[in-house]
Amino acid sequence: MKGIVLAGGAGTRLHPATLAVNKQLLPVYDKPMIYYPLSVLLLAGIREILLISSPESMESYRRLLGTGEAYGIELSYAEQPRPEGIAQAFVIGRDFIGGDCAALVLGDNIFFSANLREQLRAIVERRRGATIFAYHVDQPERYGVVEIGSADEVVDIVEKPKSPRSNWAVTGLYFYDNQVLDIAAGLRPSARGELEITDVNKAYLARGQLTVERLGRGAAWLDTGTHDSLLEAGEFVRTLQRRQGLAIACLEEIAFQNGFIDLAALEARGRMFEKTAYGAYLLRLARGGGDS
Ligand code: DAU
Repeated sequence: MKGIVLAGGAGTRLHPATLAVNKQLLPVYDKPMIYYPLSVLLLAGIREILLISSPESMESYRRLLGTGEAYGIELSYAEQPRPEGIAQAFVIGRDFIGGDCAALVLGDNIFFSANLREQLRAIVERRRGATIFAYHVDQPERYGVVEIGSADEVVDIVEKPKSPRSNWAVTGLYFYDNQVLDIAAGLRPSARGELEITDVNKAYLARGQLTVERLGRGAAWLDTGTHDSLLEAGEFVRTLQRRQGLAIACLEEIAFQNGFIDLAALEARGRMFEKTAYGAYLLRLARGGGDS
C-alpha cells in the first residue's frame, strides 16, 4: 500500500496568513499542520509516501521532511501546478502507485481517535474496493456528505449539497485499490473546474465497492479551514497534550512504535529539538519514560 498526502491548494480562505506560506505548513499548536495527516499514514503502517504540493512550496517541504529517513519512511515529492482537484492526486501519482493500492489523505485534515491505528490496519488488509470515513458534523453542507443505510451501506454521496440528506461528512482520508488510477484518469472537471474526489467515490459506489467507516463519538476530525477553526484545532491539541503528557501526531514516536526507526534515531531527533517540549518528549520516550 502506497500513501499520498495532498498539500497544495491556494489557501485563499486563510489570507493573508497563507499569502507567502503554504497552508499545510502553518503550525497547529507545536508542529506543522502536515505532521497530522502524515501521522495517519504512518499509523496505518504505510512507508512509501508521495507528497504533492504547489511548485512554490516544494522546497519548504523538502527542507521540513527531507527523504523521510528521520521517520524510517521513503518520502518522494511531486508538483501539482494548479489546484485542479483532489482526484488529480491519482493522475499525478500514477507512476508512484504503479500496481499497488493507495491511501490518500488531505494535508489539512486532523484526526484524533483512540483506536485509529487498529481501525486503519484492518482497512489496509482489506485491499479491495474503496473505503471512506464519515464523521458526524453540525454543518454537513460544507463537505462531501454520505447517506448511510440501515445495514451501514453507502446509499449516496454528494459534494457540498444544499440540502444534506445526513449529518455524516466525508473526511479527507480515502483508501483505494488499484482501480482508482483508471477511474481518476477518466474523470471530467466538475462545474467548479475540479477533478472531484466525490466522483471517484461515486464510481466505486456504482460498482458496489464503496465501504464507509464511521469515526465515532470518541474521535475528533478537526477543521482548519478558517482562522478560528485553525486556532481551535491548536487549542484542542494543546489541551490534550498538556493534560495527558502524550503527543498527538509525533512522527518519530509513531515511527519508533512501528519499528521504522531505532532507539538511537529517536534519541538523535530528541537532541535535535532539545530546546523544545517536543524534543524533551522524544528524549523521554528514548529513555523509556513513555507510556503510549
Ligand atoms: O476535508 C474534507 C473535504 O475535502 C471533503 O468532505 C470533500 O468531499 C472534498 O471535496 C474536500 O472539500 P473541499 O473541496 O472543501 O477541499 P479543499 O478545496 O478545501 O481542499 C482540501 C485540501 O486538499 C487542502 O489541504 C488543499 C488540498 N488540495 C485541494 C485541491 C482542490 C490540493 O492540494 N489540491 C487541489 O487541487
